[in-house]
Amino acid sequence: MLVALSGTPGTGKTSVSALLQNKGYTIINLNELAVDKGFVTGIDRKRNSKIIDIGGLNEYINDFCKTKEIVFIDGHASHLLSIVENVILLRCHPRELRNRLQKKDWPLEKIKENVDAETLDVILCEAVECYPEEHIFEIDTTNKTIKFVLLSVMEIVNSNFKLTKKYKIGKIDWSEEILKDF
Ligand SMILES: Nc1ncnc2c1ncn2[C@@H]1O[C@H](COP(=O)(O)OP(=O)(O)OP(=O)(O)O)[C@@H](O)[C@H]1O
Ligand SMILES: [Mg+2]
Repeated sequence: MLVALSGTPGTGKTSVSALLQNKGYTIINLNELAVDKGFVTGIDRKRNSKIIDIGGLNEYINDFCKTKEIVFIDGHASHLLSIVENVILLRCHPRELRNRLQKKDWPLEKIKENVDAETLDVILCEAVECYPEEHIFEIDTTNKTIKFVLLSVMEIVNSNFKLTKKYKIGKIDWSEEILKDF
């Protein structure tokens, strides 16, 4: 079973993936795979990010991942793949996200763009367009340790991806942050 582990950059996908890997799960890092296997089709200069061929990656992963075991796909575009069964979205309050992204040494504009994207639920909106709500799980990582986030992911896995109130989309709302710019 393929599971997308998505979320705005800085929400902790790779950090939690490392802990999942320690537990024996297979992790595919979508960006690294795109680079290694030639699925980068260009560079978005304005955003300072790679443009990846999602359709090509979809086919590629589908061909080599015919397994019943859970495989997590770490990447902020993984929710756009059509081959995953479930989507786990990591969320983070914009203020904390800004602090985390400042450690990445990115240009201020790129940090702001990602903080704005988190504030405006951009990834959640995209996921909802691709998958039915009962296959989307949200985890709020604000003020949580990476280990705590791991336990949340494990809770979802152990429930066999049965959606409960706790992880249901629609509870996280950063909209009050929008008004702070005015
Ligand atoms: N739960 C957490 N609490 C505090 N800091 C965290 C947490 N999760 C991640 N971080 C920190 O935030 C930063 C970004 O984490 P990470 O690289 O795992 O995010 P990501 O979602 O994989 O981002 P990207 O999409 O850019 O790869 C790192 O410095 C990491 O140590
Ligand atoms: Mg990452």
